[in-house]
Amino acid sequence: MSVAQKRSYETLSPRFCIPFTPDAASAPAFFGNENPLTIEIGFGMGIATADIAEANPQKNYLGLEVHTPGIGRLLWEIEKRDLRNIRIIEHDAVEVLEKMTAPGSAAAFHIFFPDPWPKKRHHKRRLVTRPFTDMLAEKLSSGGYLYMVTDWEDYGNQALAELSATPGLVNPHAGSGKSGFAPHQDWRPRTKFEQKGIDKNHEVRELYFIKE
Ligand SMILES: C[S@@+](CC[C@H](N)C(=O)[O-])C[C@H]1O[C@@H](n2cnc3c(N)ncnc32)[C@H](O)[C@@H]1O
Repeated sequence: MSVAQKRSYETLSPRFCIPFTPDAASAPAFFGNENPLTIEIGFGMGIATADIAEANPQKNYLGLEVHTPGIGRLLWEIEKRDLRNIRIIEHDAVEVLEKMTAPGSAAAFHIFFPDPWPKKRHHKRRLVTRPFTDMLAEKLSSGGYLYMVTDWEDYGNQALAELSATPGLVNPHAGSGKSGFAPHQDWRPRTKFEQKGIDKNHEVRELYFIKE
């Protein structure tokens, strides 16, 4: 961690980080208002998270991440921009969703450039697969959305198949000219890992599903 990230982590965690507590109330309770909740899984350094939250003060954002320097960096952004609508849980997203998130309580999920696990023997570690996607669908409210982006072609194809097979999720872009992938969402800022992929000439694939 840089000195600034370490300082932010130590001084701001008590205000903006929620401890993992398996029997806690559902995540929306942490904001003190009823605004719709977006949960981001694996925000990395969190710059895109801060950009999106700053542009949407009427929405709440819960970031789930296990990489401590990134948490320090997002805390620093929260302080610098005086953001009130972000909270962080430093814990495995799967467990947070299983144990701290009520069904129907999320208006959206953002999963930007999840770890690609490119080796075939590691594909089973990929996050956006069933039955995890079934749980994401269960936690979404009716009309809510799941937005995933990846620069790995085979992960994009795999996730498209897994999400298409997930009960309760509908792909509004099925049958479109992009073989079921969504067009770029203009409101999404470029992330650090996206830039790395673009530098390697990777094509970015966007997946956007709606809860029925
Ligand atoms: C490839 S990075 C992408 C980061 C960021 N979204 C971006 O686009 O720059 C994936 C991130 O997901 C986080 N991550 C992976 N599995 C996770 C899990 N089970 N729970 C929480 N975070 C996770 C990693 O720590 C890492 O920061």
